Formats: sequence, structure tokens, C-alpha cells
Amino acid sequence: MDLTSKTILITGGGSGIGLELARQFVELGNTVVICGRDEGRLADATRQTGAQAIAGDVTVAEDQERILSGIQAQHGKLDMLINNAGVFLAYDFKDDPETMHKIESEIAINATAPLTLTRRALPLLERSAQPAVVFIGSGIAFVASPGTPVYSGTKALIHHCAQTLRHQLHPHGIKVFEAMPPVVDTDMANVLKSENFKKMKPTDLVREIIAGLRSNQTEMLLGQSSQIKWMSRIAPAFLFRQFAKTEFH
Ligand SMILES: NC(=O)c1ccc[n+]([C@@H]2O[C@H](COP(=O)([O-])OP(=O)(O)OC[C@H]3O[C@@H](n4cnc5c(N)ncnc54)[C@H](OP(=O)(O)O)[C@@H]3O)[C@@H](O)[C@H]2O)c1
Repeated sequence: MDLTSKTILITGGGSGIGLELARQFVELGNTVVICGRDEGRLADATRQTGAQAIAGDVTVAEDQERILSGIQAQHGKLDMLINNAGVFLAYDFKDDPETMHKIESEIAINATAPLTLTRRALPLLERSAQPAVVFIGSGIAFVASPGTPVYSGTKALIHHCAQTLRHQLHPHGIKVFEAMPPVVDTDMANVLKSENFKKMKPTDLVREIIAGLRSNQTEMLLGQSSQIKWMSRIAPAFLFRQFAKTEFH
């Protein structure tokens, strides 16, 4: 698909992968709107990338509406929604005092919000000549990661929903993509003790995502994610044991 002169919304565009997506999409001549909760971080990101920013929490219905209304008022349409905002919570399910809050919040941010925001964005996307929705999933969708009791489940849910929405939205001309990164060198991955993982650079990851979008690769298994998928088919117990060795700070 063509990737210039588009209006693109990137959730969680104030840092990490979202920030790099914003930078590269602006460089390609697109209008990029980023959102996130931390206004200071968004202001820095705006200065660094030339993207526009609308502060908001993707788990709050009113914030979703306000972000989309802002885009409608300023640009009249949305060509691409990139559901990127996410959290990665490593904790002990039984002993962590905040387990109840962590369960609800991680599911709300990683799983519910990308779906409800996508549903709310459909009328604006339908005004585009080439509308697309992109889910930033994870290679960990294919294996349960014991140290993060809920995270891999949220990414497995997104992997399934990306496939069902691709099917349901196809007759409406809306393309659905899923990009599944390996471990990437962002703040999110700082909780991992890095000896266990080779982290991909956000610049390289985003170059691959953009190449995948250009060539209409609807399911992008990036870096080691393709090995994880393949191993999950032929040796699932071995793969689970490997992930169980992951150490966190
Ligand atoms: N890094 C990795 O190794 C890796 C690997 C595979 C997949 N991924 C996925 O890639 C995506 C981006 O991750 P990252 O590595 O770039 O992480 P990051 O640097 O921690 O960035 C996450 C972004 O999401 C935003 N966010 C979180 N909760 C939000 C909410 N409720 N409303 C609005 N924005 C929210 C944060 O901004 P505020 O806190 O200001 O709201 C932040 O800008 C995530 O979906 C993640 O699961 C990451």
C-alpha cells in the first residue's frame, strides 16, 4: 500500500516503538497524530518528530471519542490506525499486592482498548480511500511467558482478533495488519535481564514494519518471532521451559 500523504493515528506514540513509527511516518510525508497519557512525553515526541499530539488514555471511552473527534475536525478522515500502546507487567500472581489492579489494567490497555478504539474509528476510516488498521502484537502471542502472567495472553487475543477482523472488515475495504515484534530495545524491555535476549533496535523494527505494509504483508513475524511461532508448533513444551528461565529486574 502507498504510505505517503496519509493521516495516521499511533497510540502510545510518545515513546519506544510508537515514537519511532511516528518519526519514520512523518519522514515519509504523512500527517501523524500520536496519543498517550503523559503530556510531557507527548510534547517531547512532537518536538522530535513533527507529529501532532492529543493526550488521552486509550482505556477511557471519552478519551477515545475526543481523540477521534480531534482528528475528524482537523483532517476529516483517518487512513491508518496503529494500535501500539501497551504495557508489559512482570509480577507474582499470588504475592503481588497489586495483582487485582494489574490484571484489569493490562487487559484493558493491551486487549480491550485496541478493539474498542478500532470499532469507534471505523466511521472515520471509511472516509479514507485506502483504510488500514495495524495491531502491534508480539511474538510472545505463540508461547505463554510464566513471569508475566497476563501479557502473553493479551497478545494471543490480539493475534486471534486481528485474523477475525481482517476477515470481517475485508468486505468494507479496510485492511487489517498485525506486526509481531521480538524483544525490542525500548523502556518496556528494560525489565528483562538482557543477557537472555538480543534486543532489536526500534529503527530496524519500524523499517521492517513499513516494508511489510508497503508489500501488503498482513501478518508480520519480525526478527525472532518467526522462530517462536515455528518452535511453538514443533516443540511447545521445550519453548515454554525456555521462556520460564526468563529473569526480570
Ligand atoms: N519492547 C518490546 O520488547 C516489545 C516486544 C513485542 C511487542 N511490543 C509491543 O509494542 C508496543 C509498544 O511497546 P514499546 O516497547 O514501545 O513500549 P514503551 O516504550 O513502554 O511504550 C508504550 C507506550 O504506550 C503508552 N501507553 C500505555 N498505556 C497507555 C494508555 N492507557 N493510553 C495511552 N497510551 C498508553 C505509553 O505512554 P503513556 O505511559 O504516556 O500513556 C507509551 O508511550 C506494545 O504494544 C508492546 O506490547 C513490545
